Amino acid sequence: MALRRIIRFPDPVLRQPTRPVSAIDQRLRQIVEDMMETMYAVDGAGLAAIQVGAPERVFIIDASVAGAARTDLPVVFINPVIEWLSAETETKEEGCLSFPGIFVPVKRSLVARVRALDLNGKEFVAEGRDLYARALQHEHDHLINKLLFDYAGPVKRQVIKRKMERMTDEEAAALVARHGD
Ligand code: NI
Repeated sequence: MALRRIIRFPDPVLRQPTRPVSAIDQRLRQIVEDMMETMYAVDGAGLAAIQVGAPERVFIIDASVAGAARTDLPVVFINPVIEWLSAETETKEEGCLSFPGIFVPVKRSLVARVRALDLNGKEFVAEGRDLYARALQHEHDHLINKLLFDYAGPVKRQVIKRKMERMTDEEAAALVARHGD
């Protein structure tokens, strides 16, 4: 496994179209293992492959967020499709590993149902509530190149852009260590 650099806004890679996974092979397993190690290192809730420079339709969600034991491996979603979103919504401050120290209120469905493949190529359906639902919607957004930035109003966008353009790797690491999301 290898730790990968988390790509930060406004790096254009985050807006690069993602492609569906065509084969769950050693190459993909390596990307997923690296994503796990990278997410653990910053205690993140979820991570999309494109955030480590792999424009594939893959994301992972921390086991404790997904309602499993903290010691379990993250849940891997390959070629995920949102099947259903509840009409009931909630607006909460949301963070993102590609925007260290930035929080934006985002309205999300309280419950989300996602169909995906696991690392064995087996189809499964995950239904998440609250934080899990929010994480599913947030990570899915990454696959369609939608970012936290897009949910901010015009004034806040300027602030985010300025902050992110000036942010050094050291500052980002310190901010992420304080709050990974
Ligand atoms: Ni994110």
